[in-house]
Amino acid sequence: MARTPIAILGAGNVGIALARAWIARGESVVFGVPNPDKYRDAVAALGPSATIGSTSSAIEAAEIVVLATPYAAALDVARSISDWNGRILVDATNPLAPGLAGLSVGTTTSGAEQIAAAAHGARVVKAFNTTGAENMADSRYPGGAIFMPVCGDDAEARSRVIALATLIGFDAVDCGALSAARYLEPFAMTWIHMAIKLGHGRSFAFARLQR
Ligand SMILES: NC(=O)c1ccc[n+]([C@@H]2O[C@H](COP(=O)([O-])OP(=O)(O)OC[C@H]3O[C@@H](n4cnc5c(N)ncnc54)[C@H](OP(=O)(O)O)[C@@H]3O)[C@@H](O)[C@H]2O)c1
Repeated sequence: MARTPIAILGAGNVGIALARAWIARGESVVFGVPNPDKYRDAVAALGPSATIGSTSSAIEAAEIVVLATPYAAALDVARSISDWNGRILVDATNPLAPGLAGLSVGTTTSGAEQIAAAAHGARVVKAFNTTGAENMADSRYPGGAIFMPVCGDDAEARSRVIALATLIGFDAVDCGALSAARYLEPFAMTWIHMAIKLGHGRSFAFARLQR
């Protein structure tokens, strides 16, 4: 059976960056956005392996659906489908408070767990939220691979997302159950705080040392 494309909901910084990286490794993607015409030129520039349509048509076409929208829109999309039918829903969002003041949920839950509660029949996996979009488009650094923690309650779904992260050069690490998103979302804030609030810029990433 032919492999289905990866659906990416949202064609902004993260959506385009992930698409570029996956297409360079032979995957195909279908974007889903509320207004496809707005992004036709950007998607055409990615070549013939990228197409764009409505949010529902992109979901319909794929087994793996990446949420690369603002968090509130991701929750709406999660709720809008009556049965996700076992699809893997990759949550790359962060539930940011206005003005990057922090996170709007946390400690006893996470954005990913809220999305999972809203997305009936989906296997939700948290990934791609802990580093900047530029690092997704091109993950190469001289010092090694970028740490990419991945968590979710379904082991098979987790391992498929780990494979997709590894494919585009990340040091993808299985972080266990979806409740670990309570740690991964604040970890994303560490990068955001350093990059934007402290002025380190966006050309850095976190790596893992092991012995
Ligand atoms: N930027 C980063 O470096 C970074 C890194 C890690 C994680 N994140 C997280 O990733 C998410 C996306 O960030 P971003 O910087 O890519 O945002 P962005 O550039 O603003 O792009 C958001 C995209 O989502 C689309 N969208 C909005 N509502 C939608 C819906 N209901 N269905 C489908 N698409 C919808 C938008 O379309 P319209 O333009 O038509 O509204 C736009 O294409 C956020 O949750 C962010 O916190 C960002």
